[in-house]
Amino acid sequence: MKIFAKYLKPNAKFAVFGCMFEVVATLCNLALPLLMSQIVDDGINKLDFDYVWKSVLLMFSVAAVGMVCHIMAIKQNLKATTRFTELLKNDVFEKANKMTFSDHNRLGAAGLLTRTETDVWQMSEVTDVILSGVCTIPIYMICGSVLAFMKDAYLALLLFAFTPVIIAAVILVGRKIHPLWEIADKQTDRQNQLVRERLIGIRVIRAFNRDETECQKTNEATRKMVLNYIKANNRSGLIAPVAMLVLNVATLLIVYVGAARMQSGTGLSAADVVAVVQYVGLIMSGIMTLSWSLIFVPRVKVNVKRLLEILESESIPDATDLDKPALNGNVLFDNVSFAYADGSELVLSDVSFEVKAGEKVAIIGGTGSGKSTLVSLLLGFNKPTSGTLAFDGENVEGISGERLRTNVSAVLQKGTIFAGTLRENIGLWQDFTDEQIMEAVRDAQLEGFVSSHPEGLDFKLSQGGSNVSGGQKQRIQIARALLKKAAIFLFDDSFSALDFMTESKIRTAIKDKLAPRTVFVVTQRVTGAMNSDKIIVMDNGKVVGIGKHEELLQNCSVYNEIFISQSGRSFL
Ligand SMILES: Nc1ncnc2c1ncn2[C@@H]1O[C@H](COP(=O)(O)OP(=O)(O)OP(=O)(O)O)[C@@H](O)[C@H]1O
Ligand SMILES: [Mg+2]
Repeated sequence: MKIFAKYLKPNAKFAVFGCMFEVVATLCNLALPLLMSQIVDDGINKLDFDYVWKSVLLMFSVAAVGMVCHIMAIKQNLKATTRFTELLKNDVFEKANKMTFSDHNRLGAAGLLTRTETDVWQMSEVTDVILSGVCTIPIYMICGSVLAFMKDAYLALLLFAFTPVIIAAVILVGRKIHPLWEIADKQTDRQNQLVRERLIGIRVIRAFNRDETECQKTNEATRKMVLNYIKANNRSGLIAPVAMLVLNVATLLIVYVGAARMQSGTGLSAADVVAVVQYVGLIMSGIMTLSWSLIFVPRVKVNVKRLLEILESESIPDATDLDKPALNGNVLFDNVSFAYADGSELVLSDVSFEVKAGEKVAIIGGTGSGKSTLVSLLLGFNKPTSGTLAFDGENVEGISGERLRTNVSAVLQKGTIFAGTLRENIGLWQDFTDEQIMEAVRDAQLEGFVSSHPEGLDFKLSQGGSNVSGGQKQRIQIARALLKKAAIFLFDDSFSALDFMTESKIRTAIKDKLAPRTVFVVTQRVTGAMNSDKIIVMDNGKVVGIGKHEELLQNCSVYNEIFISQSGRSFL
C-alpha cells in the first residue's frame, strides 16, 4: 500500500477530484431507481401524466449529470494513474541504473526489463481500479442498503444474506492465484531472457544452424509462460461468473419474496420491488468491483514484491567528493585480493605494484588470469576484498565511483556500440565540437572510415554495431575513450581486432597525446607490451613478474613462455 501512496501523493489532487466526480455520479445512479418507483407509484398508477413528464425530465437530468461526472472522474483518474506510472517507472529505472553490479547480475537484464515494463504497467492498471472503486463501492453498498431498507426491510435482509456468499466465493476462488502469478512472472522473465539473447545472438545461432532448435526452446518457454497465465486467468475468470450467478439468484429470490409480500397486504408495491431489485444490482456491481479488485490483490502482491526488489536494492552512493581536485594518475596496489562474491574463490591474490603518473604500463597474462578484473578495480566497478588500492595515495574506499571514473577513461574488453550515429557513439551524447570528435577519430585511425561515408559523423550505427567490422567497433570505442580528459587510461584487449599497422599508429598517437597520462594496456601480445615502461605479468590471479621486456625475458618464466609461444624463440 505504501508504494501506491508514495507515487500517488504528488498528484493526489487528480485522485481527489476524480473521487469527488465519482461520488456525484454514484449518487445520481442511486437516485434513479428512487425516481423510477415514484413515477410508477405517483404518476403512472394515479394516471398523473403531468407528474410523469416532469419526473422523466428530472430523471434525464440526473442521468445526464451522472454521465458527465463519470466522464470527468475517468479523466481525472486517468491523469492520476498516468502520473503515478510515470513517477514509478522513473524511480524504477533510476534505481536499476544505480544498482550495484551484483544486484544487476542477480536480477538479470531480462528481469529488469520485465519489471520496468510489465510490472509497472500492471501496477498502473490496479491503481486505476482502486481509484475508480475507492469512493463508489462504499457509497453503493451503504446508500444502496439504506435505500433498500427504506423500501422494505425483509427484501433488504435477503440482500445482506447474499453479500457474504459472494465475498466467500471470491476468496475461495482467488486463494490459490498468488503462486500461479508468481510462477507466470518468473516464466515471463525467462521467456524475455531467451528471446532477447537469441535475437542478439542471431548470427551465432545461424552460423551453427541452430535456428530451428533455438526457436523450439523459445517456443517452449513461451508455451510454459502462456499455460501458466491461462491457469491463473482461468481461476480469476471464474470469479465474475460466480458472482453473477449469486446476483441472479438473489434477484430471483427478491422478486419471488417481494411478490409474496405484495399479496400478503404489506403495502409493498411492484415499483418498490423493482427499486429494490435495481438497488441489488447496484450493490452487487459494487461488490463485483470489489471482487475484481480482490482478484488483483495476489497479482499486485507479486508485482510489488518484484518492484521492491529493485526499489529497495542497494544503490551506488551519490558522490559527495566531485569538487575534489582531479587525480594525477599515481596508482598503488598493495596486497590486493579480490573475489567476485563472498566466500567464492579469489580471482586476484596479493597483487602488489606501483605505477607513477605518466607511466605506460602493459598487463599481460593468459586467459582468465585476472586482467579484466584488475581493470574493473581501477574503474571502481569492484572494490578490493582485502588489501589497499590507492590513487595518488588516497585509498579507493574513500573515493566515490563517480569521482574515480571522471578521472579514468577506459575501453572495455566487452565494450558496447549503441544504436545511433557515430557522433553519438563517440561523444556519448555530450557537447563535444566536431573538431574535438574528429581529433579523437584521427588518433583512433578512424578517419578513413568516417570519410568513406557521405554522412560522416552522422553515419548511423546499428545496435551492437552489427553494421561495422570488429576492428571498426574497437576503433570507435578507442576514439570514445581518447575524447575524455582523464588522468588514467585503460585499454582492455582493445587492439586485438586491429592489424599490426593500425595498432602501431594508434599506439604512437597514444604515446604522443597521452604522454603525461598514466596508461594501462591489457594485451595478449608481447609485441604490444614490449615497449612499455613497465610490464605486469599475471598468472592465475597473481602478479608473477614486473619489469621491462628485457628484464622479464631474463627472470620471468611465464613471460618467457608467452614470448616463445608468440615468436618461436627463447631468451633463456
Ligand atoms: N562477473 C564475474 N563473476 C564471477 N567470476 C568472474 C566474473 N568475471 C570474471 N570472472 C572470473 O574471474 C577470473 C578472471 O577473469 P578475467 O576476466 O579477469 O580474466 P582475463 O585475464 O581478463 O581473461 P581474458 O584474457 O580472457 O580476457 C576468471 O576465472 C573468470 O571466470
Ligand atoms: Mg579480460
